[in-house]
Amino acid sequence: MRITDTSDLWWKNAVIYCLDVETFADSDGDGHGDFQGLSQRVDYLADLGVTCLWLMPFYPSPGVDDGYDISDFYGIDPKAGTFGDFVEFVRTARDRGMRVIVDLVVNHTSDQHPWFQSARASKTSPYRDWYVWADEPPADGPQGITFPDKEVSLWEYDDKARQFYLHRFYKSQPDLNVANPKVRDEIAKIAGFWSALGLSGFRVDAVPFLIETMTGDADALPDPHQHLRDVRGFLSRRHGEAVLLGEVNLPHEQQREFFGDDGDELTMQFDFIGMQAMYLSLARQDASPLIRAIGERPSSPPDSQWGTFVRNHDELTLDKLTIAERQEVFAAFGPKPEMQLYDRGLRRRLPPMLGGDPAWIRMVYSLLFSLPGTPVLFYGEEIGMGENLDVPGRLAVRTPMQWTAEPGGGFTTADPSTLDRPFPKGRWSPKNVNVAGQRRDPESLHSFIRGLTRRYRECPELGWGTFASLPCETASVFAHRCDWEDRSVVAVHNLSSEPVSAQLRLDDCTKRQHLYDVLGTETTTVAADGSFTLELEGYGHRWLRYRSGGTDPV
Ligand code: GLC
Repeated sequence: MRITDTSDLWWKNAVIYCLDVETFADSDGDGHGDFQGLSQRVDYLADLGVTCLWLMPFYPSPGVDDGYDISDFYGIDPKAGTFGDFVEFVRTARDRGMRVIVDLVVNHTSDQHPWFQSARASKTSPYRDWYVWADEPPADGPQGITFPDKEVSLWEYDDKARQFYLHRFYKSQPDLNVANPKVRDEIAKIAGFWSALGLSGFRVDAVPFLIETMTGDADALPDPHQHLRDVRGFLSRRHGEAVLLGEVNLPHEQQREFFGDDGDELTMQFDFIGMQAMYLSLARQDASPLIRAIGERPSSPPDSQWGTFVRNHDELTLDKLTIAERQEVFAAFGPKPEMQLYDRGLRRRLPPMLGGDPAWIRMVYSLLFSLPGTPVLFYGEEIGMGENLDVPGRLAVRTPMQWTAEPGGGFTTADPSTLDRPFPKGRWSPKNVNVAGQRRDPESLHSFIRGLTRRYRECPELGWGTFASLPCETASVFAHRCDWEDRSVVAVHNLSSEPVSAQLRLDDCTKRQHLYDVLGTETTTVAADGSFTLELEGYGHRWLRYRSGGTDPV
């Protein structure tokens, strides 16, 4: 075993779990989740097999963008608790073998941030140049409105400042000017501050916008990627284990640049392209879009990693599909206008989209955990939570965690009718979908996902290995292998509701060989020419494993 195969590169096969402190567990009955409540759930998360928690923003904020509009980068929202509560939580998580990363949202501040208030007040403010100002919105400036339901421009005129300022997101989120070295220093200071409190890195918000510098004298502007290299270098010097997990929703070949030529920029990136192709494949019950997307995904530098996911906290974006493809996914999984958002995404969780079909839902999570990369779960996925479309916009999928069948879902003792984001009703309510009921049931989705986290951790082939798809004549079959050292995992998923007989071949098997079932108890035998057949139920899935030499890798 090489030294690099140890847990130093912990992100290569982590199980990441994203949650919002506000909606996870409320310890004092005020209707808002808090760090004390979260600390009480750390053992639950460890038992689920989570190895890294990603916390959504918990900083002081006016809450226009659910905390992604920050008014103090060095504080904690009093509703979430105190610094004491925060440090206790991080310490408890680490004690149970879990690392913690948090959102680093430094493309912009809230307009309530003292820096912006000072900047707009006077042209001589020391913070004036911390934001991006213009007398007129420049014609050659950045394009593309992120929230077209609320905004019509990326520029807002400020009466006090008597200039326009740039805002990539809501107008109450002015963009910071990263061409200013003082801003870049402050970003490093923020990252240094939180990592000194025991964190293992950051999920970096909106990276392409963050590093973008405005038009002007190109020679005078810093290299945008140098900024990422600087932050990564700084963090690595302070904390060797710290990662930068970047949100970069761009075509794969452009994403490759964000890892850096030498793997010295982002440590990890979410695979938005693979995720979108997966939904197209699910809608068509045809594996080809996913085979193409994962096949074309550039390999990450050796110490870097792709993050795979089924659902995140935002709209399920389908922006990189063609208009016709997007309409196919809308028709299959979100046909009603109220299920869609910004003409590009869906505001639903997976189980309602799949009609609650247990076999289909399980197949998708089996697929997620078997794809090459590091899986990222969004809270509640392990019990199959649904959305509440009565809650506006993207918040429909950010309703409180459902722990028990009680009216407050075990999330809070407050009157549930007073919650800002009420629970889903009917089939998806806490009464029918909750942790307590599922943890005791070996047949539940929770037990299934808990099994997947264990098996994923036991198969370094998936996080560390190389990927190849296996040709199969049956269009609905996604078959692939991941190879690492002398071991291989072969994973086969039937995306169709109909049973199939999948004819497959392993070219490296030149003698009869046993494949050992990872999720079940069967053994499959490969013929001397490498061929074998798998009979799969509708939405059936198998993970098979072997070691060159033929022994069970266990
Ligand atoms: C990212 C976040 C999103 C937020 C936006 C602005 O895209 O995922 O939730 O609204 O950045 O910070």
